[in-house]
Amino acid sequence: MDRRDFLTVASATAAGSATAAGSAALGAADAAAAATPRNARPTARERSRVWRIGTPPSIGNLQLTTRETPLPQRGEVLVRVVATSINARDRGIVAGFFPIGTNKASIPLSEGAGEVIAVGEGVSEVAVGDRVTACHFPDWTEGRWRPSVYERDIGNTLDGWLGERVILPAQGLVRLPDAVSYESAATLASSGVTAWHALFEIARLRPGQTVLSLGTGGVSTIGMQLAKQAGARVVVTSSRNDKLARMRELGADLTVNYRDTPAWGTRVAELTGGGVDVVLENVGRPTLDESMNACAPGACIVMIGTGPLPKELPKMPGFYQKNLMLKAISNGSRQMFADLLGAMAANRLQPVIDKTFAFDDAIAAFREMEASDHIGKVLIRHP
Ligand SMILES: NC(=O)c1ccc[n+]([C@@H]2O[C@H](COP(=O)([O-])OP(=O)(O)OC[C@H]3O[C@@H](n4cnc5c(N)ncnc54)[C@H](OP(=O)(O)O)[C@@H]3O)[C@@H](O)[C@H]2O)c1
Repeated sequence: MDRRDFLTVASATAAGSATAAGSAALGAADAAAAATPRNARPTARERSRVWRIGTPPSIGNLQLTTRETPLPQRGEVLVRVVATSINARDRGIVAGFFPIGTNKASIPLSEGAGEVIAVGEGVSEVAVGDRVTACHFPDWTEGRWRPSVYERDIGNTLDGWLGERVILPAQGLVRLPDAVSYESAATLASSGVTAWHALFEIARLRPGQTVLSLGTGGVSTIGMQLAKQAGARVVVTSSRNDKLARMRELGADLTVNYRDTPAWGTRVAELTGGGVDVVLENVGRPTLDESMNACAPGACIVMIGTGPLPKELPKMPGFYQKNLMLKAISNGSRQMFADLLGAMAANRLQPVIDKTFAFDDAIAAFREMEASDHIGKVLIRHP
């Protein structure tokens, strides 16, 4: 099933507008709008606050600082940030353990949404007043992944979203459909786009198939929601029964506690009557063997989690016998993000936001992620 089939399955009446919302993200009409006086550049220099990664990097060392709000240069926009959220990688970047050696950003966070308040020279993609979010790889606009997209990475090699006013590359921006709120959009750039890429571009999920989504965090929860919306049956695993109960309320069909059931993969295969068709492997190599045990013949495992190397190398049970497909992915393209937003608008899908913090309490928000007490996303509301 391609992404348009997903929209058709999910909401036949809204498919046209959803596709339009997606493709309208960066269209000719926007280029025309960008040429209007709405794009006036601010003349007075104002001051605004940003959180900066500390030295040495650690959550406690995050620094709230005030700076003269920068003006956007060629190809850049200035955004008034409305909301941001935290992905596992953002916590790793702030704490200095992920990804080793590539972090050059001073301002963290790869997920956010806001309003364009100024545009630099040559920007035709968006105009002042547009509601936007951004891909964290701004150079991956469409097509297949290539290694060079790692070079510009919002929140990692480029400054990110955790400020009242931030500069972003115009090329990575995606306009929000009216039906998608700033807060919903702010949760998607990393976890939502990755789940979309895995389910619809890689696994080509079809209605009636069964998806296993590991854990109850950001990627897992939006992955479950998107798979349910597309007509799939979804199995979720967690270390905690209270989280599993909440995931059932949110739509999970079957749940397994991986702490109580060490052979949880085999259990999933039993519960599903022969195994799952798609695995969102949101942990990584430590859980790969059990994920393979959970698979039906011909299943697709999408490697998303960057969990640590296990003590023993994975034995990969059933890899050949069941003809499994194993595919790693790194986030997704701007086109995938536009498609995701279009589908969310058409289906009125709301991401699960478990905890919300004020901008001034960003350190507490990172600590919440560290405690892993959340389901879905941890949100930061900006002033
Ligand atoms: N490849 C990519 O492009 C990409 C994009 C986004 C994120 N990621 C990676 O994906 C992973 C998840 O990110 P996130 O932001 O969703 O993190 P998160 O919100 O912190 O959630 C992490 C979840 O992992 C679950 N977990 C930990 N060990 C587990 C196990 N043995 N079995 C099942 N679940 C387990 C926990 O579930 P319970 O608390 O319920 O036990 C927790 O909810 C991270 O490794 C992140 O770096 C990769």
